[in-house]
Amino acid sequence: MTESTAKLEFRGKTHELKVRPGSVGPEVIDIASLYKDTGAFTYDPGFTSTASCESEITFIDGDAGVLLHRGYPIDQLAEHSDFLEVCYLLLYGELPTKAQKDDFDHRVTRHTMVHEQMSRFFTGFRRDAHPMAVMCGVVGALSAFYHDSTDISDPYQRMVASVRLIAKMPTIAAMAYKYHIGQPFIYPKNDLGYAANFLHMCFAVPCEEYKVNPVLARAMERIFILHADHEQNASTSTVRLAGSSGANPFACIAAGIACLWGPAHGGANEAALNMLSEIGTVDRIPEFIGRAKDRDDPFRLMGFGHRVYKNYDPRAKIMQKTTHEVLGELGIKDDPMLDVAIELERIALTDEYFIEKKLYPNIDFYSGITLKALGFPTTMFTVLFAVARTVGWIAQWKEMIEDPQQKIGRPRQLYTGPAERDFVPIAKR
Ligand code: SDX
Repeated sequence: MTESTAKLEFRGKTHELKVRPGSVGPEVIDIASLYKDTGAFTYDPGFTSTASCESEITFIDGDAGVLLHRGYPIDQLAEHSDFLEVCYLLLYGELPTKAQKDDFDHRVTRHTMVHEQMSRFFTGFRRDAHPMAVMCGVVGALSAFYHDSTDISDPYQRMVASVRLIAKMPTIAAMAYKYHIGQPFIYPKNDLGYAANFLHMCFAVPCEEYKVNPVLARAMERIFILHADHEQNASTSTVRLAGSSGANPFACIAAGIACLWGPAHGGANEAALNMLSEIGTVDRIPEFIGRAKDRDDPFRLMGFGHRVYKNYDPRAKIMQKTTHEVLGELGIKDDPMLDVAIELERIALTDEYFIEKKLYPNIDFYSGITLKALGFPTTMFTVLFAVARTVGWIAQWKEMIEDPQQKIGRPRQLYTGPAERDFVPIAKR
């Protein structure tokens, strides 16, 4: 499609607005000069119809259930790539050659340790602190340890910060988990792959050899790939907005972690598993379906629905397959929560309410069952989401910083408060 225009009739005047085509997907109507030309703002709380930026990284077709990273379908990446190859693709825009992949793996591997002083940083937290609270604090503190990669105007420092974050998030996440359960920290091992190293740091103990199960490591790689990036979701938009002020990348990623924590977003995997455990048995599903449909009941089926996907979340299908692989490898025959999840999905997909509102399982619906089977407590589920999404956040942050049109994000509002009025002394109120 070529550029065209849209006409806006407003207060007796006709305004021509530029319409820009994407390479695929919806066109955009450029309203950047609307306020200057009309004195009015557009209004779109929740950004249901707003493109906040131009990006070449990830494309989602919500109606078709399509997710592409730099043009490559998520199911092909999940099948054929490892996580660091997807990281390279998101950061650099192309799949790496063998030499480029080896170099990238080498660079990431040699940044997996954190400054030894950070171990002391953890001791300030209560042991029962939610690991996401610890992640917000510790990742935000990275800028206090890695000053030499906070100059966002230096391309070399931007890439070093990106590699440091990708490399250190699994180490920090594993440290948060070990601290939570009162076990000693386990250092990264440079001879292990990304996911295997993470599993080793989480589940090894100093007193004995820990062999990582290769089937589980492959499943973990795939889970990381499925969570790597997802266009302009709430936490990515948070990272872009924080970065637009020139804040350092570590602080921006900490802001993304804080936003991801919400149960409507990345916190849904923890909430979905808690919901499945609250439902408990298949015969209680109708009660919860009824609650989900009741507009006076704030209860929602966690792991269902999506702002963009009005069809099946392609990641959920791959996650479901991974769930069965992991349970099979671990010899878990009848997981009651999986029975409830499968039956809940079957009922929901045939229920008029969910069909009419186009509510399908999203990536968070099955991930919790898989992560629980891998040995993680529910409080760690969103931490794992944050580990994977760090590459998406930092790739989007880099794209924004390197955009010559980049400016600070500063939305306006529809003001409905009181007009100007004079102060009234307390004696007269
Ligand atoms: C993620 O954006 C991303 O890309 C996010 C993510 C990523 O990779 O970054 O994909 C990760 O966050 C996945 C979503 C995880 N969240 C959940 O599973 C929480 C449960 N889902 C909902 O809270 C909700 O579906 C959202 C937040 C995901 C989407 O909300 P929207 O787009 O604002 O839709 P909505 O709330 O306006 O819902 C539309 C209608 C409403 O009914 P009406 O007011 O029109 O009558 O559908 C209903 C909602 O009540 N609805 C649900 C529901 N989700 C929406 N009803 C019951 N159960 C649900 N889960």
